[in-house]
Amino acid sequence: REELAQNLTQVRTENYQLRERLGIQSEIVGRSEAIVKINEEIARAAASKATVLIRGESGVGKELVARAVHYSSPRRDHTFVCLNCAALSEELLASELFGHEKGAFTGAYERKIGKFELAHQGTIMLDEIGEMSPGIQAKFLRVLEGHPFERLGGSKAIKVDVRVIAATNRDLEKEVAEGRFRRDLFFRLRVLEIVVPPLRKRVDDIPVLAYYFLNKFREETGRKIKGFTQRAMDRLVSYRWPGNVRELKNVIERAVVLCRGDAIDQEDLLLSSLNTAGDTADAMIESAYRPCSLAELEKAHIAATLKHTDWNKSRSAMILGIERSTLDRKIRRYGITRE
Ligand SMILES: Nc1ncnc2c1ncn2[C@@H]1O[C@H](COP(=O)(O)OP(=O)(O)O)[C@@H](O)[C@H]1O
Ligand SMILES: [Mg+2]
Repeated sequence: REELAQNLTQVRTENYQLRERLGIQSEIVGRSEAIVKINEEIARAAASKATVLIRGESGVGKELVARAVHYSSPRRDHTFVCLNCAALSEELLASELFGHEKGAFTGAYERKIGKFELAHQGTIMLDEIGEMSPGIQAKFLRVLEGHPFERLGGSKAIKVDVRVIAATNRDLEKEVAEGRFRRDLFFRLRVLEIVVPPLRKRVDDIPVLAYYFLNKFREETGRKIKGFTQRAMDRLVSYRWPGNVRELKNVIERAVVLCRGDAIDQEDLLLSSLNTAGDTADAMIESAYRPCSLAELEKAHIAATLKHTDWNKSRSAMILGIERSTLDRKIRRYGITRE
């Protein structure tokens, strides 16, 4: 535990140095190669005005990345606005984006300034862009190409200087192939692309994030919790995190409340068994039974675990519940190699 706490301090310093070097403003915690790469991509994106497409599952930190791009860019003193395209009906989304004049539609009692106008000289983030309806896609593409637009029900041409960041957890290539998303808009959006991998693919970040959130909620609640038991940490690292960092944050928040001792234990972690059922050993064996020896199964499982952790052997040993030296021996015995 102490080692992990020291680790956290070290990671904070590393993070800080990395930000200094890249000159970026970011609250992104993590030490995995993926995070290092993302920080570099943020620095590169911040320097240009190009449209950025951020991809990744829900809860991986896409909005955090978008904010980092904005606050590291020369536009940082202007507005950053974020709009979720999935949360609104087509008419409401259009009015949120482009604004409307009084009486433009039933319920439009006042003039409303749209997000594009509000974000003038700043940045607009359009979350869940895959949900945007075809009509709005067409209008949006024209704005992206630098054309002026009108408020709904208005006739005055409005021209804005806005940097656009779009985010999606959908397979946009598929949406394009199936005709639900405009191909030209897709290409226009992904001039720069930042992919944020799911948390289970960057297990190195899990202990760091767990301590980061523990600190946060410890400060908020004033509870004196030292850290995590080994069992709890093993569980955190081996869990699949279908809700990614958002879920981890919630789990730690609840654990801080539930915890009775001076360290968070396994019982304090409310992890959804529903979403992980497919990953338990029982389900693994049931779903795809084929006759094979225990040795074959062991070899395949070790190989899969190494692949999952990107050949991080100490992490793999932790997940497998064996010593690192034992893992090394088994790798040699089974002749498992990195592809
Ligand atoms: N690397 C990270 N470091 C710190 N907090 C993070 C990180 N990634 C995500 N979070 C937090 O997790 C939550 C979900 O992040 P968000 O950016 O909204 O995800 P997404 O937009 O991909 O669904 C937010 O509270 C965010 O602050
Ligand atoms: Mg989001």
